[in-house]
Formats: sequence, C-alpha cells, structure tokens
Amino acid sequence: MEKKVAVLPGDGIGPEVTEAAVKVLEVIARRFSHTFHVTYGVIGGAAIDKHQNPLPDETVALCEASDAVLLGAVGGPKWDQNPSALRPEKGLLAIRKHFDLFANLRPVKAVPSLLHASPLKPEVAKDVDMMIVRELTGGLYFGEPSRRTADAAVDSLVYTREEIERIVVTAFEIARLRRGKVASVDKANVLETSKLWREVVEEKKKAYPDIEVEHMLVDSTAMKLITNPAAFDVVVTENMFGDILSDEASVITGSLGVLPSASIRSDGFGLYEPVHGSAPEIAGLGLANPAAAILSVAMMLKYSFNLDTEASAIEEAVNTVFEDGFFTADLVEPGKRVLSTKEWTDKVIDELDTQFVSNSIMFSYV
Ligand code: IPM
Ligand code: MN
Repeated sequence: MEKKVAVLPGDGIGPEVTEAAVKVLEVIARRFSHTFHVTYGVIGGAAIDKHQNPLPDETVALCEASDAVLLGAVGGPKWDQNPSALRPEKGLLAIRKHFDLFANLRPVKAVPSLLHASPLKPEVAKDVDMMIVRELTGGLYFGEPSRRTADAAVDSLVYTREEIERIVVTAFEIARLRRGKVASVDKANVLETSKLWREVVEEKKKAYPDIEVEHMLVDSTAMKLITNPAAFDVVVTENMFGDILSDEASVITGSLGVLPSASIRSDGFGLYEPVHGSAPEIAGLGLANPAAAILSVAMMLKYSFNLDTEASAIEEAVNTVFEDGFFTADLVEPGKRVLSTKEWTDKVIDELDTQFVSNSIMFSYV
C-alpha cells in the first residue's frame, strides 16, 4: 500500500512525540512492505511564529494532498496573551472544521500494567474499556453569534438534525463492533439542543435493534465515570460535553499520556493526535510519553488505511513494553528507572522486530 501522511508536530512536546510515532510508522512500512510518504507542516504556535497564522494555507494544501494527518499538540504560554484569532488552538479548531472531521473517537482502555498510576482503586478501573464518540465540528465551539464586549459575552450552542444524525449513526456502527451498548449523553432537562439530540437518538436507534441505548444526563455521567467506569461501552455526546468527559475518562486508566484519538469523516480521511496537550513545562527534555502519539498512528492505520493487522501489531508492542515494566516519567513507580522518550520508543521498535521474527518462524512451520 502507498499512502501520503501529513505530519504536523505543533508545539511543546508535539515534535518529540510525533518523531517517535513516525519512527514506528517507518518500522511498519518496512516490515509490511508499505510506502508512506511523510511530509511535515506547521500548525498552532509554530505556525503563528512563522506565518502569523495558526493554520496557514500551505498546511491546508499539504493536508488536502494527503490521505491522513498526524498531529502532535498545540499551544503554550508563549501565545497565551495573543488575541483569539492568533491563538494556537484556533489552528486545531480550523483544521477540524475545514476537513469536516465531525467524529472524534477517544478510546479509553485499562491496561493492567498501568493500574498503579490510576487515581481510582484498581478494582474500579481494571475492566474499563470504552469509546468516547465526541461530535467535533458543531456546538459551542463554532456556534454564531460568538462575541464579547467589555461587560458581556455570548457563545451559541447550535446543532442541526443532520449534524446529530451523522454522529449518532457513527456511534451505533462502532457499538456494533464492540459490546453493543451506547450511552447518549446530554442535558435534555435544560437545553433545547439536547432535546433535539434525544429525539434523533430515539429515531436512529430503530435501525439498530441489536444496540442497547441509554440516555444519560451529563452531570450524572461525570459521576458514574468515577464510580462505575467499567459500565460504559460507547459514549456519544456533543462537542463541549465530549471535551470535558474525555479528559475526565482519560485519567482513569493511569495516564493521559497513553491515549490516542482519531478525528474522522465518512470517506476515511482523518486526523490523528494524542489526547494530551503540548505540556510546555517538559518540552525538549526527552521526558514526554510517546505512547499516545504511537497509538494514534495505530488508529490511523486502522481507520484511514484499513490496516488492522499493522494497527494491532503496534498496540501489542506498546502493551508488551508496559507489561515488561518500561515506563516514561509520567508512569514510573518510585525506585524504578525512568526511560526517555527515545529509549521508550526504541523498546517499542525492538518489540515490533521481535514480533516479526517470531511471526516468520511461525509461518515457516506451516
Ligand atoms: C481537545 C483540546 C481542544 C478542544 C483545544 C486545544 C481547543 O482540549 O482536543 O480536547 O477543546 O477540543
Ligand atoms: Mn480537551
């Protein structure tokens, strides 16, 4: 297979973790005989510094000419005082909107070897395996009017039926491939958009009699994510609720540093990025955990290129490295050795090589 991948490292630890992820992608290319053409572009603060624009036209053109995008992270204190049009985050919102990446998939799965870093009791966290399906191009993030004067401000929460339908259908389809349960999260006791959301879920579920659907209010969902997170399978919700709940869910498994995400549309084009931010305080120190970026590459292989075997190979290698007790600073237990970003990435690459050797031995016997 031959594919074009745009890599937008962004700010803070973004360049370090995307470098690690690209190395892993290169190993996959070599081992499975694929060709991935990797081209770099700027976004966020790095793009503001270079082009006074958080999403320059060159970057949009590069992504348009690519089959998928890998992004590091955007933002940092350097740009915090910038006016809103020149904030790094604007670049991320603009790329999501430009490419109509309406479905944001954020898997949260417990890994036994990381439970020591979870703030929850191991017995509460150990069976967690959920997929948060967050609507990404509507709601409060993009609704008009949105403005402020010195003493007043307005943001608008707007959703059309069509926008809700496509994300709800995506969630049902994903649930079919998992445990068949969907929790649809809203605030239908207060918000008009949530009442429309519920109506659409009720209508769409008729075509999915095999799926168990539950409507949940966002406040009690926040609570249940802590008290009984293992009860969730697929969680579907609007943009802002999904932003908040996915950060809450992300810590359950031990570290925000290990969670990948996919932002996709119906034709397979997608943007893949770690859920974590740019962590400017550790940028350039070689301390960042590259697992989320590496697992984002696995999601790219799976969702944009339909390369399930290759994606599983990466996931398996990452899990084995954790099981073998190798951790970056965010996950390490007291008294154990901390691996740098590069050392940890090399462990994953070694593991992929080992897998490949043992697979070829297996093949030579059959
Ligand atoms: C995320 C981030 C972004 C969001 C920010 C950086 C604009 O928090 O991807 O969850 O709010 O969507
Ligand atoms: Mn967020």
